[in-house]
Amino acid sequence: MKHFTSVHDLVPPPGGTLSTAIDSLVQRALVHKANPAAARSTGAGKRVGCLFLNPSMRTRLSTQIAAQNLGMEAIVFNVGSEGWALEFEEEAIMSGTTVEHVKDAAPVFGKYFDILAIRTFPSLKNREDDYSELYIRQFIKYAGIPVLSLESATLHPLQSLTDIITITESLQETNIKRPKIVLSWAPHVKPLPQCVANSFAQWITAWDKADFVITHPEDYELSKEFTQGAHITHNQDEALKDADFVYVKNWSTYTDYGKIYESDPKWMLNNKKLVTTNHARVMHCLPVRRNVELSDEVLDGPNSIVTREAGNRVWAAQAVLENLLQHNG
Ligand code: CP
Repeated sequence: MKHFTSVHDLVPPPGGTLSTAIDSLVQRALVHKANPAAARSTGAGKRVGCLFLNPSMRTRLSTQIAAQNLGMEAIVFNVGSEGWALEFEEEAIMSGTTVEHVKDAAPVFGKYFDILAIRTFPSLKNREDDYSELYIRQFIKYAGIPVLSLESATLHPLQSLTDIITITESLQETNIKRPKIVLSWAPHVKPLPQCVANSFAQWITAWDKADFVITHPEDYELSKEFTQGAHITHNQDEALKDADFVYVKNWSTYTDYGKIYESDPKWMLNNKKLVTTNHARVMHCLPVRRNVELSDEVLDGPNSIVTREAGNRVWAAQAVLENLLQHNG
């Protein structure tokens, strides 16, 4: 891979498909999980710069651990709170609050680092701007080194790779050949990005090894760009029937962009709703609002695999960093 910002950055092997490429990365991640330090020499003398324009716990720590496992140095820069305010628009007249243009800053990062990892959230104010992924595109344009998304305005590919690693691992404990996976919208108290849901839909449909259902209230449709191949229903009960995995996530509206229309607690997943599933394993990317998105009884019960999922963030990051190092000598 040259960069890692979406499932479409994966390079299928000769004669292979995107699904094959996902499986290769998943298997590599599981090899790292079995023996975290075996590839310690891969990143010797290399450095990843982790730029955070927005908060993070799991992504930040797991990427640092993954880099360390590969023998790389990881330097974290909270550019959103500690750096100069960056300008991303071309030909901007910088007489406002921005202090440094990405055109000047990114090439400097390119001199300091071998890989540039970036977290940047959407504004949720202007859909066209957010969905243009200007920030990530500008870093790719000007840094001159591989760019790794730690979650962008519309996608969270490291999370989605982690989710497929976790599903693959869980399936090895069952006899299920083709799981039913349900992405179930959950209530929340504030408008959240569509990134995790977009990305999960993008990766699961590309993986093409599951019956994939998305359930959400009316007016919460995601961009069709990411949901082709999914069955979409507003009936959560129908969606949950016989589900093997339920991925719970809130997102704000896409069409009338960045709004909350609905926060009906009936959409929260609880044990009663799990009764019609196939003992479904419950996933969430975290952080989670307890008893708003998911009930205590589910999160603390036997169906929850959220901690395993978060733990697997390390192996996803390690497989991706390794791949970027190997293909960008
Ligand atoms: N799931 C996830 O990306 O968590 P953080 O925001 O804590 O990194």
